[in-house]
Amino acid sequence: MSFALRAEGLGKSFTLHLQGGITLPVLHGIDLSVAPGECVALAGPSGAGKSTLMRCLYGNYGAGSGRILLRHDDAVVDLAAADARLVRAVRRDTLGYVSQFLRVIPRVPAVEIVAEPLTARGIAREEALARAGALLARLNLPERLHRLPPATFSGGEQQRVNLARGFAPGYPVLLLDEPTASLDAANREVVIALIAEAKARGTAIIGIFHDVEVRDRVADRLFEVAPLAEVA
Ligand SMILES: Nc1ncnc2c1ncn2[C@@H]1O[C@H](COP(=O)(O)OP(=O)(O)O)[C@@H](O)[C@H]1O
Ligand SMILES: [Mg+2]
Repeated sequence: MSFALRAEGLGKSFTLHLQGGITLPVLHGIDLSVAPGECVALAGPSGAGKSTLMRCLYGNYGAGSGRILLRHDDAVVDLAAADARLVRAVRRDTLGYVSQFLRVIPRVPAVEIVAEPLTARGIAREEALARAGALLARLNLPERLHRLPPATFSGGEQQRVNLARGFAPGYPVLLLDEPTASLDAANREVVIALIAEAKARGTAIIGIFHDVEVRDRVADRLFEVAPLAEVA
């Protein structure tokens, strides 16, 4: 099966400028590939580098070494070497990321936050708002909250806004960092269903799932991220 996203020899170190420039190696030689319709779960202890790997794959952190190959627009691009313009295009059309915490934008209502990636892809505003509202409703976000900015929402409510924003566009590749961490059982089931539907449509998913039951239900296989001290 051909890949949707593939990391080859990916490495990442942090330089701690406030600590006299100490270098902290986190990832080394990561070879990870995910196919369309497949869900790979990142496993490994807290601090191993799972979230760092996600942020490298999304381009939030520059990769120190290696390549990040992504199928985008009928071509294969290397995200590790992509310029800002290509990264923007990739994030608009191909690669979605549900981070652990919603980045709240002051004064922007929840439904607009969810609709924004849809209008960015050329979907008419009314249609985008309708789809955003429907997804928020499916995630049991009370209707009265749709028109409010999420700054004062509970953690679980903010996470559902974040999830709706990530799932609404139907990206070919989706990165999920602990998507059910602050959800109740009913909403956890909704997320599991959203993941299953995305996979059935051919979406490639890389996820971090703290909840082993959720992980076992959605993941096709595990990818172990080992703390570097143990492999060095
Ligand atoms: N921006 C950063 N600057 C410095 N160190 C970081 C940064 N982000 C993560 N780290 C360090 O990288 C290691 C891996 O963190 P993380 O990827 O969050 O682990 P995980 O998600 O597996 O729990 C930790 O030791 C963490 O302190
Ligand atoms: Mg993490």
